[in-house]
Amino acid sequence: MLDLLVNNAALPDGRTGMSVAVRAGLIVEVAPGLDALAHEVIDAQGFLLSPPFVDAHFHMDACLSYGLPRVNASGTLLEGIAVWGELKPLLKADALIERALAYCDWAVAKGLLAIRSHVDTSDPSLLPVEAMLEVRRRVAPYLDLQLVAFPQDGVLRAKGGLDNLKRALDLGVDVVGGIPHFERTMADGAASVRLLCELAAGRGLLVDMHCDESDDPLSRHIETLAFEAQRLGLQGRVNGSHCTSMHSMDNYYVSKLLPLIAESGVSVIANPLINITLQGRHDSYPKRRGMTRVPELLAAGVNVAFGHDCVMDPWYGLGSGDMLDVAHMGLHVAQMTSQPGMRACFDAVTVNAAKVMHLQGYGLAAGGDASFVLLQARDAVEAIRLRANRLKVWRKGVLVAETPEVVAKLLLPERTSATGFMLS
Ligand code: FE2
Repeated sequence: MLDLLVNNAALPDGRTGMSVAVRAGLIVEVAPGLDALAHEVIDAQGFLLSPPFVDAHFHMDACLSYGLPRVNASGTLLEGIAVWGELKPLLKADALIERALAYCDWAVAKGLLAIRSHVDTSDPSLLPVEAMLEVRRRVAPYLDLQLVAFPQDGVLRAKGGLDNLKRALDLGVDVVGGIPHFERTMADGAASVRLLCELAAGRGLLVDMHCDESDDPLSRHIETLAFEAQRLGLQGRVNGSHCTSMHSMDNYYVSKLLPLIAESGVSVIANPLINITLQGRHDSYPKRRGMTRVPELLAAGVNVAFGHDCVMDPWYGLGSGDMLDVAHMGLHVAQMTSQPGMRACFDAVTVNAAKVMHLQGYGLAAGGDASFVLLQARDAVEAIRLRANRLKVWRKGVLVAETPEVVAKLLLPERTSATGFMLS
């Protein structure tokens, strides 16, 4: 006897008429047209059943603080850091926890069930760290929260920066972060990458650095990050976040850089909503888009995910925890308008992001966690186009969110193929 049987579902890989059978929180079978006894049987009506959305780059300690203590008037990255600096002495653990828990509720309602959040380790009190560890504990029954020790003010630039980061790791923060482009010199930036990778290797931890979040084409810390990943045997365990300088780099240099990143097994996270709004601020016209080279990285064999980065904080006044919004923006900024390109943007907020986080049991396959989202769309492209309604969200076999079907569906007529409307 099954606990749950979802019938007549479309899957992100294009299969239709599929059934997913669940017992004890795990997927026991994925096959066409299963007929079995189950406590609950759901007719998916041909809609898309996807593994949950995953946000591999977020800042939960800052989220929902927009306007505190003031709004970022220029909208730049540096004024955002300044506003955050003004807010930090005023932070209270209870308020941080309350905002983070509210955001996690939004996330679950949007089918976003795993988040990697950077948490600022710069303040010696480690108040944001303690607060986010408490949030991680409280949301564990319904959301995977992974924390990165993020030295916002730099590990070498700020007095005590490295010690504070190590203390955060001692308290149980999961991943080693960094911000090499914010250190005082290129040499210090490279030195910070080396010492933080060595720290991660010594402790057996993953690495995720804010890397080259700048329009400066000579900000090349991703090269050092990739080299150190190889030198220390950290292939597949290191991520470069943002990498916006790559947008502006010399093409010849990038042709040498891409194979190095691929060989080193370093993944890259672009944050389209934030990169398009924060980068290019020193440009007149033409204005650079500032997002890293997503199609070229993918073509080189690099795992690329899209992150939300910010929701209503000193850097960004919008956002709702909707990873389809993120995929939609990424698709446009990267001009990934082909059918495979659009589907790759869906992967960037699901399976690729899960790979960055090393999530266990992720995916629609037998033996995996019964965590999935039923979307009111017939395939991944339509889901992005509509930022489709999340009809039902399950986590390990338990229904955790539900939204009524919208009447004005905006769906195309029944399709003849899984790849798109009347496409051959
Ligand atoms: Fe970030």
